[in-house]
This record gives sequence, C-alpha cells and structure tokens, in this order.
Amino acid sequence: MLRIVLYPHPALRFVSVPVQRIDDTLRAQVASMFDLMYASKGIGLAANQVGLPYQFFVLNLTADPTLKDQEEVFINPRIIKRHSSCVEEEGCLSFPGLYAPVQRAKRIRVQYYDLLGHEHTRDAEDLFSRAVQHETDHVLGRLFIDYLTADVLKSVTPKIREFEQAFREQQREGSLASDDDLRMMLERLSKPAETFPT
Ligand code: CO
Repeated sequence: MLRIVLYPHPALRFVSVPVQRIDDTLRAQVASMFDLMYASKGIGLAANQVGLPYQFFVLNLTADPTLKDQEEVFINPRIIKRHSSCVEEEGCLSFPGLYAPVQRAKRIRVQYYDLLGHEHTRDAEDLFSRAVQHETDHVLGRLFIDYLTADVLKSVTPKIREFEQAFREQQREGSLASDDDLRMMLERLSKPAETFPT
C-alpha cells in the first residue's frame, strides 16, 4: 500500500536509482501512484514521493482521472536542454497547501522511457515543461523549496517549520520510523536484489 510522504521525509532527499526493469511490480506502482495523485488533485507525482527510490514519475496535466489518454509515465528522465526562464507559482503534494513562485527553464528537451520501454525525446514548454522539471528534480532528491528567493523562503519558513514539527511528532509517537531507519529502507530498496544472498 503506497502513500504520499510529506516533507521532511528522507525519501524526498534521496537520489533515486534508475529503473532497471519494466515489470508487473512497476506497472502496479504506476497505477497506484495515479490513484494517489488524482485523490490529492495533483498533476504529477514522483516515485520518491511514495517512498520508492526509483527514477520515474507520473503526469496528467489535466488532473482529470477520466482523461486516461492524458496520462504519461516518465522512466529514467533526463533533461538534455534548457532554454530561457520564467517564474510561476508552484506547489507539491509533499507540501500540501504551500505555494510559491519558482524560476524554471521555459522550454526544455527531455529524454525518457515510457511504460512499454520505448525511448522518447520531447520538447516541452509552459506547464508541461515546469511539471517535468519539478518531477525530474524529485527523483534526484531536489525540491521546489530549494529554488526560492531569500524573501519568499523567509515568508514560507513558518509553514515549512509546521511540516517539520508534524513529521517529528509522528516519529515521537512511533507512527513513523526514524530518519535513519527510513534511509536504511530506501538504501535497501535501491540496491539490485541479486546483491542479497538468499
Ligand atoms: Co512535488
């Protein structure tokens, strides 16, 4: 059972490993990530955000669960070109209720594999470009709050502290494992299975 983790869960700072195999496990994870994303009214969700240390994310820019043809899966994404920049308001399902202006490349070129294993190279702009940059950052352990200007960061710091306090409180209560244990789980998941003796 996957669920969306909130800041400052260590998964959000974990540098994920490339996907090695497209199999039933991955397809099931993708399906459940779309469900979670729609339930939270999001347009994108990265594997890190459900505690999976693998480089993939799901996207549906319409946020409409009935528009299946708008669903996209990006596996092992690489942004290979960035052009000009723009500032727009951004949010993140791991920071519910927090929105802030973020400067990003206006246009990008992204390379990735889809769920059938086909390689794609696509140019993206506007919302599509922004979402791909935001989600590709996630799989590399980067967050939108890393890009805030000093002034904006200052204004959202109380909200960020609230997330931190709520998270630490859950750890104290024991409903969440410690950072060290969570990191160990991520390390274990990120290692190829064959490195473990059976
Ligand atoms: Co996000």
